[in-house]
Amino acid sequence: MSARTPKRPFRSREWFAAPERADMTAVYLERFMNSGVTPEELRSGKPIIGIAQSGSDLAPCNLIHVQLAQRVKAGIRDAGGIPMEFPVHPIFENCRRPTAALDRNLSYMTLVEILHGYPLDAVVLTTGCDKTTPAGIMAASTVNIPAIVLSGGPMLDGWFQGKQVGSGTVIWQSRRRLAAGEITEEEFFDAATASAPSLGHCNTMGTASTMNAIAETLGLSLPGCSAIPAPYRERGQMAYRTGQRIVEMAYEDLRPLDILTREAFLDAIALTTVVGGSTNAQPHITAMARHAGVEITREDWVEHGFPLPLILNMQPAGEFLGERFYRAGGVPAILWELQNAGKLHGDRITVSGRNLSDALFETPDREMIRPFDQPLKENAGFIVLRGNLFDFAIMKTSVISDEFRERFLRNPGSENIFEGDAVVFDGAEDYHHRINDPALGITESSILVIRGAGPVGWPGSAEVVNMQPPDALLKRGVNSLPVLGDGRQSGTSDSPAILHASPESAVGGGLGWVRSGDRIRIDLNTGRCDALVSDEEVARRRAGPLPQGPASQTPWQEISRNLVGSLADGGCLETAVKYRDVAKTTPRH
Ligand code: FES
Ligand code: MG
Repeated sequence: MSARTPKRPFRSREWFAAPERADMTAVYLERFMNSGVTPEELRSGKPIIGIAQSGSDLAPCNLIHVQLAQRVKAGIRDAGGIPMEFPVHPIFENCRRPTAALDRNLSYMTLVEILHGYPLDAVVLTTGCDKTTPAGIMAASTVNIPAIVLSGGPMLDGWFQGKQVGSGTVIWQSRRRLAAGEITEEEFFDAATASAPSLGHCNTMGTASTMNAIAETLGLSLPGCSAIPAPYRERGQMAYRTGQRIVEMAYEDLRPLDILTREAFLDAIALTTVVGGSTNAQPHITAMARHAGVEITREDWVEHGFPLPLILNMQPAGEFLGERFYRAGGVPAILWELQNAGKLHGDRITVSGRNLSDALFETPDREMIRPFDQPLKENAGFIVLRGNLFDFAIMKTSVISDEFRERFLRNPGSENIFEGDAVVFDGAEDYHHRINDPALGITESSILVIRGAGPVGWPGSAEVVNMQPPDALLKRGVNSLPVLGDGRQSGTSDSPAILHASPESAVGGGLGWVRSGDRIRIDLNTGRCDALVSDEEVARRRAGPLPQGPASQTPWQEISRNLVGSLADGGCLETAVKYRDVAKTTPRH
C-alpha cells in the first residue's frame, strides 16, 4: 500500500518531511513517538488518519465508539495508514443544559481547528447522537480533507409489558398517560429505562437515526452503515471496513466537497420524508448544505420533500424500532424504493468509490418498508409555512393523527384549515408554571404558542415546542393540541407542531407581538399561518418592547448569540459559512 502514490501529496508531509525545516520535524517526531508511532513510520509517507472520537461517559449515545475505534484502527493499519484518535467536544442531546443545540456549532468549530491545524490527511467521523452527525459533516466540508462517517448505530429495541418502547417516543406517550392518571410514576420510569436496553443512540427514527440515515444517503458512509444496531457484530465489521476504506480515500483524494452535491442534499430531503424523519433534519440539512456551498431553499422542501409518502413503519410515525429497520435492509432498501419511483439521484459518487445506486436492494420485509405506491401515508413530508407571524416554519405531517385532524377541521369541505385561540408562553419555565392554571381557559380548540426558544432567545434553540395539553384535557382524552414556536421539538415527538418559526421572537419576529386570545389560522393548503389581527394593531404592538430572554451564562452563549442565524437558515454561525476547503492552505508553523 505504501508503495502507492497519492493522487495529491499528503498534507502531513508538510509536518514530517519538509526538508528545509528538519529542526521542526524533529520536534514533531519526538512527541508523537509517545503516541506509539515510530519516527520511521511518520516519515515513511503513509497517510495519517484522524479518528474524531465523539464517545465518552458524557456522550453515552456515542460511547460504543470507544470500542469501535479499536476496530477502525485495525482497519487503518491493515490498509497501510497511521491512525490517530482524538476527542471532539461531547454532545449529549438529553442532558446538556441549556440545550445541546449550542454545541453543534461549538463542536463544528473546534473540529475544524483540529482538522486544519494538525497533520491529518483524512478523518473518520464517529457519529451517533443527534448533532454529532451534522457537526462532523459541517467540519469535514469546511476543511475538505477525505472524510468518512462511521455511525455508532442505534440501541437494541426496547420492550416493556410486551410492547416495543422506543427512545423518546415512549417518554412523550408516558408523560401524557402519567398526567391523565393512567400510570404511576414508577411505571413511567420503568417504561423509560426499558426503552434504552443497550449501548447505542436512540432506537426510534428520531434525530439520531434520521441524521445517520442522511449521512449514508449523502454518500458519506459505506452502504448499510447507519442502521446496524450498536451491539451487533456487523457494527464492528463496519468499523474495520470503514478504517480500511478511509486509507484508500486518502490515496484517491476523494473529498467531502466531491460528494456533497445539490443532488445529494435533495436525496437527503426525500429520505427524511419517506422514513418519517426528525424535524431537526431541516436546520441540519440546511447547515450542512451551506457549509458545503450548496443552496437549499424552502421550495426544495416543498418540491422534493412534502409530496413523497411515508414508507417506513418505524416510531414515532410508525410502529417498529431500529433492529427491525436493520433487518429490513436499512437505508439501501429505502433508497431502492426512491430509485424505483424515479425520486433518487443515484448516479453520484459516494465514499465507497462507487455510485449510490450500486448498493441498493429490495427489502425482504414489506411490513416494515412499504412499496412506494402502497405507503403508510401520502404527502408525508414537512409543510413549509409563512404568514404574518413568521417568514418560515415547518410542520411534520407524518405524525398528525386522524383524531387531531377531525377535531381541528374548521370548514367541512375545506380540509386542512385549522383555527384556534392562542395561549402564549414566554419560554419553557412559563409553560410548566402555568399550563395547568384553569384561568388560562385552554380548550380543545386552543393553540399553544411558545416563544423565546430560538437560537438567540433560549439561547441555542430548545426542543420545547412539543408542549402537552393541560392535565384536565388529557384526562378527557385530548392528547394533543396544535403547538407553535420559535424553538424545536424532539425528533422522537409525535406532536402536531409548527416549529422553527423564523425570525425568532428574540430578534423581532412576529411571535414577539402575538397575545393570548389572538385567533390563529393555519391553512395547510396554501402554507399560510396568520394571527387574525389587523395591520394597525400589529403595528401598535410592534412599537412596544421586545420580550426579554435570559442573560447569557457562559462566554460561548454570548458568542453564539452574536453570530448565530435563524433556524430557517440552519442555525449556523453566520461568520463561519464563508470558510470552505480550508485545507488547501497549510497552516503556518
Ligand atoms: Fe442521544 Fe437520542 S439522546 S441519540
Ligand atoms: Mg433531540
